[in-house]
Amino acid sequence: MTNSTLLQIDKNDARLGMFIHGFGKQWLRSPFAASQFKLSSPAELETLRESSVTTLVIDLSKGIGPTSSTGIGPTSSTAEIPKPNGSSTPANAGAALTKATGMVRSIFSNAASSICIDRQQVEAVVDVVDQLLYTRPASVLNLTKLKTKDEISFQHSVAVCALVGLFARHLKLDSNLVRILSVGSLLHDIGKIRIPTAILTKTDKLTADEMAVMQTHPREGYAMLARTKGLPEIVGKICLHHHEKLDGSGYPDGLKDGQVGAAARIVAICDVFDALTSIRPYKKGFTPEAAAEMMGTWSGHFDRALLKQFFDCMGLRWPSGPDQTLQTTDEMGDIAQADLNNF
Ligand SMILES: [Fe+2]
Repeated sequence: MTNSTLLQIDKNDARLGMFIHGFGKQWLRSPFAASQFKLSSPAELETLRESSVTTLVIDLSKGIGPTSSTGIGPTSSTAEIPKPNGSSTPANAGAALTKATGMVRSIFSNAASSICIDRQQVEAVVDVVDQLLYTRPASVLNLTKLKTKDEISFQHSVAVCALVGLFARHLKLDSNLVRILSVGSLLHDIGKIRIPTAILTKTDKLTADEMAVMQTHPREGYAMLARTKGLPEIVGKICLHHHEKLDGSGYPDGLKDGQVGAAARIVAICDVFDALTSIRPYKKGFTPEAAAEMMGTWSGHFDRALLKQFFDCMGLRWPSGPDQTLQTTDEMGDIAQADLNNF
């Protein structure tokens, strides 16, 4: 299939029989679990029209086109559009994520008993997430929003791994660094295996003492990763520093600005975004737009330039307000790359 069969149209011009190829930069707003399918029922058409998506990309080789020349124009780039893969279905994506979550549970459990990390299992989970990101990015992120009570930590790890994989590619980091960041994000919370379940699963506000215990998880995880031979140092740094904030108010070390490496800054953004947008048994989860609005106003927490790039990556609007001096994607990618190489 070539790009000439793809056409971007307004959602109001969608009609039954069209084959949806993707939603471009708006893929996160897709109300559908599948990213590529034929619009075949009035209910699907209604769902599309009532969604916050404004445009979509259709494939003229697999379905009908617009009745008139209502297309906005051919897509100029396939970079934001998932590559087609007929073998992947929503059920497969869900099953793959369930399997990945089970593997993370096993990694965490083995780490608790053997005091080191099963690197082969970690690589296998990253492979599953990578494959899903390549074929079904909207599916993987929509499905990972759901967190069940017993699996919250494991599902969160898979979700952050997926977000980081997507974001790192958006930043144009090289494939080796993307892989390291994926491994680091999958293991960023592994220290939670040392936190009592009563604290981990508590839905009410933690007491000061409980919070102090919870805040030991970056150091616990870092110690665990340090005992695992052959893991890149960046992986440990991600684990140790993912709760640091650039104004020095984070933990465990209260690091400031340049003391927090780019890898931890990247994971911190994805970590918080997933936490805010997750649907848990006891709470509804914010919409991506509401999460972005909040995160954009937390001055001193995140790397603002990276946060802006994350919003671009996710198709989210940068909050209105005083203009920020922000680098371009390419410049930011260079900075992150240089920073990561210095670990
Ligand atoms: Fe954490």
